[in-house]
Amino acid sequence: MKIGITYNLKSEVEQLEPSQPRVEDMFEEFDSPETIDALCGAIEKMGHECVRLGFGRPAIEKILNSQIDFVFNIAEGCQGCSREAHIPALLEMLDIRYSGPGPLAAGLSLDKISAKKIAAGSGAATPEYFAIFPGQEFKTENIRYPLILKPAYEGSSIGIRQDSKVENDDAFRNKLNWLRANYPLQPVMAERFIGGREFTVAVIGNTDPEILGIMEVMPQDGDLKNFIYSLEVKRDYLQKVRYSCPPKVNKLLREQLGRAALHLFRAFNCRDVSRFDFRTDEHETPYFLEVNTLPGLHPVSSDIVIMARLKGMEYDQLIERIFKHALERYN
Ligand SMILES: Nc1ncnc2c1ncn2[C@@H]1O[C@H](COP(=O)(O)OP(=O)(O)OP(=O)(O)O)[C@@H](O)[C@H]1O
Ligand SMILES: [Mg+2]
Repeated sequence: MKIGITYNLKSEVEQLEPSQPRVEDMFEEFDSPETIDALCGAIEKMGHECVRLGFGRPAIEKILNSQIDFVFNIAEGCQGCSREAHIPALLEMLDIRYSGPGPLAAGLSLDKISAKKIAAGSGAATPEYFAIFPGQEFKTENIRYPLILKPAYEGSSIGIRQDSKVENDDAFRNKLNWLRANYPLQPVMAERFIGGREFTVAVIGNTDPEILGIMEVMPQDGDLKNFIYSLEVKRDYLQKVRYSCPPKVNKLLREQLGRAALHLFRAFNCRDVSRFDFRTDEHETPYFLEVNTLPGLHPVSSDIVIMARLKGMEYDQLIERIFKHALERYN
């Protein structure tokens, strides 16, 4: 088959978006050439032809001018809270089969406010929150601390720093102003800070999805109460965190995390593979933080890839499995 890959390379997005104000972390979500090379390598080893489509107008032209049988989509999109839905929507319109979430799931999961509504509505535990919209006046009355403040439409810890946990009105106002100045086109989400253990859970499959892995992310300094898996920490992960997979958890917590992830996989109408982030409170109750319906597939550093490898599944096998699940949906 002729398999196209849609993606956003950091370098290409910079060229596409020359007019946007520059924030230090604005390209954090986008892919590196190693990811595209590894993905293409895996697809070619399966015996298929791989066509690098990229994103935007060049991708649309390539799609229209070549007979693509299937698209392996890892494109994060460039602008707006529905940006991860752009490629899925385009491919649906052209009736081209593709991997990963449909436009609705992609949009709902990127917007953390909508995601929390879906999660809470489905009965999952998720920390209380409130949203402050662009231009909305806001008074710091009756706020209960500690809170974490984050931009509503980002991933890869864009806009999340070591000082994102706030414990008083001054810190709240400072962080709110900083977020509004740097991420002006989106709401700020203020969420109760859950200062316990942190887990990420990967789910793979469709009609009968299964847990690919549960991984604990632990601060090297052991200070869970103030731990944030922030931009600084993710950029320096070898020094700042340790990963444990499978984690040292009792049976109850393992089952709760697994059940919650499978439940949320269906609630969000995820497809093929997804990753869910949780933190536990002082009673070890897991709280849903967010879902990644298009989790990173870097051959070395992406959580999903690490979890698969620790299960004995190499990168190429993981890609083949995702691809097979995606194809099965169309049969
Ligand atoms: N309510 C919360 N309580 C405690 N910590 C939180 C909370 N929300 C977020 N965090 C911390 O901030 C980190 C990043 O938050 P979140 O997962 O929402 O961001 P993201 O940018 O979507 O991440 P990803 O890289 O997984 O896409 C979490 O991994 C966690 O350490
Ligand atoms: Mg996360």
